[in-house]
Amino acid sequence: MKIDAARIVFGDDDRAEILRRVDASLRTGALTLGPNTLELEAGFATRHDSPFAVATSSGTSALEIIFRALGVEGKEVVVPANTFFATAAAVVHAGGRVRLADVDPETLALDPASLEAALTPETVGVVHVHIGGLVSPAVPAIAELCRARGVWLVEDAAHAHGSSFEGRPAGTFGVAGAFSLYPTKVITSGEGGVIVTADERLRDEAVVHRDQGKAGFLGGDHVRMGAAWRMSEPNAAIGVVHLGRLDGFIARRSAIAARYRCGLEPVGGIRALPLPPGCVSNFYKFVALLDPGADRDRFKQALRDRGVNASGEVYAKPLHAQPIFADLPHGPLPHCDDVCARHVCLPVHSDMTDEEAAYVVSSVQEVLADHG
Ligand SMILES: Cc1ncc(COP(=O)(O)O)c(C=O)c1O
Repeated sequence: MKIDAARIVFGDDDRAEILRRVDASLRTGALTLGPNTLELEAGFATRHDSPFAVATSSGTSALEIIFRALGVEGKEVVVPANTFFATAAAVVHAGGRVRLADVDPETLALDPASLEAALTPETVGVVHVHIGGLVSPAVPAIAELCRARGVWLVEDAAHAHGSSFEGRPAGTFGVAGAFSLYPTKVITSGEGGVIVTADERLRDEAVVHRDQGKAGFLGGDHVRMGAAWRMSEPNAAIGVVHLGRLDGFIARRSAIAARYRCGLEPVGGIRALPLPPGCVSNFYKFVALLDPGADRDRFKQALRDRGVNASGEVYAKPLHAQPIFADLPHGPLPHCDDVCARHVCLPVHSDMTDEEAAYVVSSVQEVLADHG
């Protein structure tokens, strides 16, 4: 059996519906900021219990727009050391400075104690990243800490479509959340992103920033340092159709994750990250920790030899180990260094079969039995 690292799922009906929508865009000439974008925004806002949603060209531009709207120029923003390049790069592109904090080894996401230690008088905001689609149970405490210290909280929800903690969806804990609709995410628009917020001013700023900083779509002065951060209608058409599949995809991914969790429990040498009470994860990733000192490359190669391709880590190399970010200020980051070095992500697909999941589990069992 061969299991790819990711599988992007568009069934026959969904492809037909996307083609119908793209055909209508081509016939009418409504190719950007049109009815599909509005429908995506309305559906995304509803699904995430958020008053407003603004579709953008990518998750990265969604983040940069939020940081520009909040005004980070010359100011410091605390970012977890374990995240994707774009989280920190968006702060820098918006004119801010990044300070790194450590993560909780049970969630791979920002650790409240490390965050508290990282806050300085220069800090204006904090970014929390819902790693792998899990909304950490620490997020309410982090939001409270931010409130108490007078700094804003932004959620990088690039991984977390439809995820929640105690019924509260990703994107609603801070002033705004930025989602990615990149192809490998749980749902995609090809390329794209979405900002959700309950702050009407922020929504209005986002709308202006994404269209070249123009005061209005049909003309007007350029009043902000925006860019071409619009979502095209063909992209929005793909996104609308995939949004309709989100709950079904999460259900299937959760079933696979439950099989993995159960299958790995008796196996030595590997431990699945827990799913804490109150958490609904979309299982963008299924994260497990190998024992300290384990050779991850050898483990993954042995899985590949059996046809199983593990998906990319979140993340193998933390930001402070990236050459471009080597000079970012930070305190001790022991948990980040540890979990980045030894976690693995087993493949999860939105249409994965139980047989495929069983094959992944038996392959992991074999590899760990062979290699110890
Ligand atoms: C944590 C995180 N933030 C931001 C992004 C950027 O999203 P995009 O690729 O849509 O620009 C990604 C995407 O991979 C991500 O994983």
